[in-house]
Amino acid sequence: MKIYRAKDYEDMSRKAANVISAQILMKPDCVLGLATGSTPIGTYRQLRQRYEAGDLDFSSVKTANLDEYKGLPGTNDQSYFYFMHHNLFDHVNIRPEHTNIPNGMEPDAEKECARYEAVIADLGGVDLQLLGLGHNGHIGFNEPDAAFARYTHCVDLTESTIEANKRFFAKAEDVPRQAYTMGIGTIMKARKILLIVSGADKAQILRDSLYGPVTPAVPASVLQLHGDVTVVADEAALSLIPE
Ligand code: GLP
Repeated sequence: MKIYRAKDYEDMSRKAANVISAQILMKPDCVLGLATGSTPIGTYRQLRQRYEAGDLDFSSVKTANLDEYKGLPGTNDQSYFYFMHHNLFDHVNIRPEHTNIPNGMEPDAEKECARYEAVIADLGGVDLQLLGLGHNGHIGFNEPDAAFARYTHCVDLTESTIEANKRFFAKAEDVPRQAYTMGIGTIMKARKILLIVSGADKAQILRDSLYGPVTPAVPASVLQLHGDVTVVADEAALSLIPE
């Protein structure tokens, strides 16, 4: 595991964009696994700027997002479909048909999860999976659980996640209670993983994830078992991890 120490959020975003840019330059038709949340917004801004500067070409890049709220249409500004278009897809030359996100409007969970696993398999798997870290150690929407989920599945969001995400919605009642997410097994199949973390409020969970016991109670701890993980975190998030 490589850990890159960034000064602050901006520096983290730049360093994370460096890793993603390197992936695209080395393999222009790579498959990127993408994440949402507040953490990657700066990284996507950096990627947009590099595209505008003529340094990045997304024309052959394919993407598969980690997760999506169940029941939110893509037109809802809190859907991850909307987030990805707003923060990245609409600003670079990626082909819409090359982007993949679980379909939150498919009510049949079994059908949608099987479809999404097949989509990832058809892409040939993910080359580089970008991950943020939830306050309870969740990755994608894999909440702390008794076991690691293997495949894309439908989850009931925990109160802590609903609480953390309610700032984006008008009222807490508007936060969807369920989501579709890649499983831990799906994430672990990615050839490379890039975990980005910012802020003192993530320091304890980052330490537990990287150095604590590997347990489904801290979903991100499973990353300790992956052979190619890069962590880019700012000093505040790394404050409990000695240099
Ligand atoms: C959400 C997303 C995760 C994300 C996490 C952290 O619940 N499903 O993919 O990593 O929250 O979000 P933030 O980056 O806003 O702290």
